Amino acid sequence: MNTALTDLLDIDYPIIQAPMAGVSTPDLAVAAANAGALGSIAAGTLTAEKAEAAIASVAAQTNRPINVNVFTHASPYRDAAKEAAWLETLRPYFREFGIDPPDGLSEIYKSFNDDPDMLEMLVDRRPGAVSFHFGLPPQYAVDALKCAGIVTLCSATTVAEAEAVAARGIDVVIAQSGEAGGHSGVFDPAAGAGQHGIGLMALLPQVVAAVDRPVVAAGGIGNGAGIAAALTLGAAGAQLGTAFISCPESAAPAAHHDALVGAPGKATAVTSALSGRPARGVVNRLMRDMAGRESEVPDYPVAYDAGKALADAAKDRENGEFSVMWGGQAAPMNRRLPAGELVACLVRETREAMTLANDRLNNLFRP
Ligand SMILES: Cc1cc2nc3c(=O)[nH]c(=O)nc-3n(C[C@H](O)[C@H](O)[C@H](O)COP(=O)(O)O)c2cc1C
Repeated sequence: MNTALTDLLDIDYPIIQAPMAGVSTPDLAVAAANAGALGSIAAGTLTAEKAEAAIASVAAQTNRPINVNVFTHASPYRDAAKEAAWLETLRPYFREFGIDPPDGLSEIYKSFNDDPDMLEMLVDRRPGAVSFHFGLPPQYAVDALKCAGIVTLCSATTVAEAEAVAARGIDVVIAQSGEAGGHSGVFDPAAGAGQHGIGLMALLPQVVAAVDRPVVAAGGIGNGAGIAAALTLGAAGAQLGTAFISCPESAAPAAHHDALVGAPGKATAVTSALSGRPARGVVNRLMRDMAGRESEVPDYPVAYDAGKALADAAKDRENGEFSVMWGGQAAPMNRRLPAGELVACLVRETREAMTLANDRLNNLFRP
């Protein structure tokens, strides 16, 4: 299963455990890495100091390469009137729990593009890889990371974004499709592309044809047959997020797995109402009520401050109606397996699917 990705990253299998802010943990990254995949640390919501601690915790448990993921969104435009109006819109929901909404909202974490401490720390700690989500990092940051011997990756949700990633000299393009769980990596959320993400089967071959570097497929891959299909479409590897939510090493509560896998009718959908950027997850009450009102939502991550406050208020009163439970369209395929076993299982299934495809081809063309 050697591909351009396994060679570049020095990993056994062309599988990346996706970084998942709030869900993936250092233990998940260690388990995936020790099983031969690329484990990821989700540092998008962390300070440089906390990210460094996570890297140290992982490095103490594995000597395999690890990916550190950061968010490269444009800084939010702060519109006081829009933020106040949004809090007023949410007031009735907070009142249901007997509390008022917060007095104001804040930018709950920085973009990597405005965080020189994070860049300095990464260049210093030299993880095997650094991946970017939500847009392009500055050229000087790409150059500094590559100079330090770090492999760089960046999500792209359209061919134009993939071309921009390649033009910036980033080593690997992650083609993230509309089936994907969690936030779309779309560069400009106002452009609407993330809201109506392109399906993987259409996106992947177009991105592969457009760029001269390894492409990783992300979105809707739930088993080894999906990985085999992505490899067949030209990918050098696959990044799976949702599949790892159900691992015991993930920080997701059991209710998250149950909501994704269990109850019929609880389909996932894409919304900007919870965070200010399009993201796919289990449909909750706020998503249902705010459908079509995207233009009223403050910029990411300011809106997320309100979404998280409401989810916390509801959770404190044992009401799951406002829980933020991101997940993708392949979620019903999830298995409750330790991450190392999941990686081994995915590798076995990929091999089986490729052998089966080969047998079918041979039968098809038998004289
Ligand atoms: C719960 C959750 C959180 C996520 N958080 C991040 C993140 O912090 N950084 C990132 O680059 N991608 C994040 N993603 C997106 C993944 O990197 C990946 O593109 C996606 O999971 C692939 O689709 P799949 O979920 O169908 O496997 C997240 C996905 C999920 C499901």
